[in-house]
Amino acid sequence: MEYFLTEEQKTLKSLAHRIAEERILPVRAELDEKEQFPTDLLKEMAASDLFRVFIPEKYEGLGGGSLDLCLIVEELSRVCSAVAVSYAATALGAYAIILYGTEEQKQKYLPAIASGKIAAFGLTEPTAGSDASGIKTTAQKTPEGYILNGTKQFITNGGDAEIYTIIALTDKTRGARGASAFIVEKDTPGFTFGKKEKKIGIRASSTRELIFRNCLIPAENLISKEGMGFIVAMKVLDNSRPGISAQALGIAQGAMETAVDYTRQRIQFGQPLISLPVVQYKLADMALNIEAARALVYAVARTIDSGVKSFTEESAMAKVFASDVAMRVTTDAVQICGGAGYMRDYPLEKMMRDAKITQIYEGSNEVLHNAIAIELRKRKGKRE
Ligand code: CAA
Repeated sequence: MEYFLTEEQKTLKSLAHRIAEERILPVRAELDEKEQFPTDLLKEMAASDLFRVFIPEKYEGLGGGSLDLCLIVEELSRVCSAVAVSYAATALGAYAIILYGTEEQKQKYLPAIASGKIAAFGLTEPTAGSDASGIKTTAQKTPEGYILNGTKQFITNGGDAEIYTIIALTDKTRGARGASAFIVEKDTPGFTFGKKEKKIGIRASSTRELIFRNCLIPAENLISKEGMGFIVAMKVLDNSRPGISAQALGIAQGAMETAVDYTRQRIQFGQPLISLPVVQYKLADMALNIEAARALVYAVARTIDSGVKSFTEESAMAKVFASDVAMRVTTDAVQICGGAGYMRDYPLEKMMRDAKITQIYEGSNEVLHNAIAIELRKRKGKRE
């Protein structure tokens, strides 16, 4: 398919492809096995200016759009989605500042992220996952600043990020409308981390609790206004879900390529496996679903880049569709590669493990069906 990428986009895509093949591929199995955060790789990616892509030019970024980020995440995920999500979750952590930060906040934090400081986004809590408005972490206003108390759970880049955007209640009586967004720096007294979670997949990425105990932050770290936190969180997620779609797309692409290579070489019944109609059918099914997902993800990213104000539905659709494709493609790839597919010294089982989370995080596919249905109900099913 011709996606009419610009010369800059082709350059970004081939840069990410080269980093993935030359730097990530040789260490991906070891990082996965040791559950080791890819600090050095992220530094190399920052040295290649990849962290500048999603930061506006005014703040030492390259001013790239959603499609630029998707192209990078897709290429990285084709080889290792754990490294890719550590990168993409930095964009997730930065979006609240990019979209709603004050000029001072942007000047202070965005150039740092552009040069490779890792960021994270803290919304989920032990009692608030899909039900994002069920958060209990509080931010109490005092003359010295805001005092945070509470625990955030399952936070990607937790512990390894330097800059955190956190959603907390400034008014416990008002539910979603009582939430506010804040910037919290690592090493702030009263801010510590829980244990590193052990996961099925994306094992090189870090997932930890963020614990706030009387953590005092300056009043100027409030993002936007008190009461805007839920809207900030929802808009951040609308912007970041295409990145997860691209992650899923890259995983699926990597799994299909691996399955094609293997089935071309593996001889059974006197012929390569790929000559068997049942294998051909499965590979063709992978190819058509991946291309359909790519067309949707790129179209949604371009819709966002066109400057439209609301894209909740489109963003959710891309995430749901691409992540379901990734799960199906990786499962089929393991299946047609048989014993090799199942063994840990072959990459397919890791891709299958990694694919699962794309159906779960940044809004489970079930809750995103709900978000799509809400939009349908609002416009009575009609499209303009
Ligand atoms: N944009 C702007 N405003 C929005 C919005 C959006 N996308 N979605 C909701 N709102 C507004 C509503 O208009 C409403 O405003 P009013 O009160 O002024 O009417 C307000 O927010 C509350 O909306 P709802 O009543 O619809 O909220 P809800 O509590 O029913 O929840 C939901 C809606 C869509 C299910 C939401 O809770 C949700 O998105 N849940 C999923 C959360 C999620 O994605 N978590 C992922 C965590 S981050 C992560 O996974 C990162 C990682 O590790 C990589």
